[in-house]
Amino acid sequence: MLDIVGFALPAPVGVRTQRRALFAARTNAGFSHRASANTVFGTHDPCSCTFGNFSLFSFPQSCRTPKLSLTQIAMSLPLTAFGPYRAPTNNTLMLESVSLNEIAERYGTPCYVYSQSALLQSYQEYRDAFQSFDTLVCYAVKANANLSLLRLLAAQGAGFDIVSGGELFRVLQAGGDPRRIVFSGVAKSEREIDEALKAGILCFNVESAAELQRLSERATRLEMTAPISLRVNPEVDARTHPYIATGLRTSKFGVPATTALALYREAQKLPHLKIVGIDCHIGSQITTLEPFLEATDKILELVHQLAAEGIPLEHIDLGGGVGICYRDEDPLSLSAYATALKPRFNKFQGRLLFEPGRRIVGNAGLLLTRVEYLKTIPERQLVIVDAGMNDLMRPSLYQAWHEIVPVDAPRKTDQKVDIVGPVCESSDVLGTGRTLDVQAGDLLAILSCGAYGASMSSRYNARPLIPEVLVHGSQTTVIRRRETYADLIQHELS
Ligand code: LLP
Repeated sequence: MLDIVGFALPAPVGVRTQRRALFAARTNAGFSHRASANTVFGTHDPCSCTFGNFSLFSFPQSCRTPKLSLTQIAMSLPLTAFGPYRAPTNNTLMLESVSLNEIAERYGTPCYVYSQSALLQSYQEYRDAFQSFDTLVCYAVKANANLSLLRLLAAQGAGFDIVSGGELFRVLQAGGDPRRIVFSGVAKSEREIDEALKAGILCFNVESAAELQRLSERATRLEMTAPISLRVNPEVDARTHPYIATGLRTSKFGVPATTALALYREAQKLPHLKIVGIDCHIGSQITTLEPFLEATDKILELVHQLAAEGIPLEHIDLGGGVGICYRDEDPLSLSAYATALKPRFNKFQGRLLFEPGRRIVGNAGLLLTRVEYLKTIPERQLVIVDAGMNDLMRPSLYQAWHEIVPVDAPRKTDQKVDIVGPVCESSDVLGTGRTLDVQAGDLLAILSCGAYGASMSSRYNARPLIPEVLVHGSQTTVIRRRETYADLIQHELS
């Protein structure tokens, strides 16, 4: 049986209406029911859309006869069909077939919880959208480097985008194929370069003339050949948070398009380097297509100039950066991206690479936290929870919005509260101005935390790193155990 979140709408409606309905449902947070697939789907293809972690299906009420096979239904499920939903019996939050109450009970809080199906579906969505190209999807490990998640992706044949020797080690430990690894980053050390050369990675994404020299020296010393791409800065405004825009003229990343040709010529003269591609990555959480297309066109211009000079490329890497819905964003559709790229690539015979992180894992995870105290001060109603900025840094660092919902049935209220953590910093805020009625001891789920949540966490305030739990159907697996106090000091004992 397939569990599906559904809204019974009177008839198929447009995507916009669906989104509005879902948004209303989401913000009221008391919604949705669960049903088996064969009770909700009719003879028409389900009309589906996603909203952040939540999925909405509409279907004509008149036709309830099951005509679609489960496989067909599964194929038509959207990216985040496996987001959290409310159980029909008691309105508490579930992920796949597991209640979040049960997870908190068993593993304690705070705790990251991931849906395996959501993760694999979003990877598959990338594969499907670009299937008419020769594509390699290189998951950006920095988004979430948990070994078990890497293992799941490696088993699907994913490639990986790494930025450190540590990430290389993780990918290899997870069984990732080194010939599907691209190595980005502005400060690759000699050691990291040597390790990647010995592992036999697909490509170094070179970010400066100095790095090119270092790569040449290391490859010469090891009597190996380093496959390279230049990461070109296409100088495109990605219209995202300044901390996560990487393609601006002033950015530390990549080489300016104006100097790229000269650098390629130089690379061609170095015997231990092999030019295989070109790369760009313009930023993160980008929700419109235009910046990607602008960057692509600049890159393609260079590709054609290189071809004219007798430097053909085996691949073009367009980086990651595709955004997700955290609140009310309307993330770009990957198939629209693919459609827009198609005519642009008809002259290019090689492979198309992507480096998505957030889009693969962002909506597959949530942070489960418990309310410790309520505190009223003249200006604010504070809800103090057991997760802090050391566990989830995004709200403090980028003023990022994460939806916060009660795990148990929500109570109606007009009151606005600020959700804050235990860390001794005023910036330790997880959400402000939320309409919530909660009591000490209540559980809250902070949504869309799969990307840049656990991977950016720290032990600040001597807070042990929190566990990560993977849900698959009715199974739960601890994929990173909660640290102990002994773990906190183990590297400091002589
Ligand atoms: N490729 C390169 C070279 C990157 O630098 C990044 C992200 C990616 C791929 C993956 O980008 P994505 O598809 O996940 O947007 N901590 C920030 C995001 C920093 C992104 C850094 N680079 C956040 O929490 O929003």
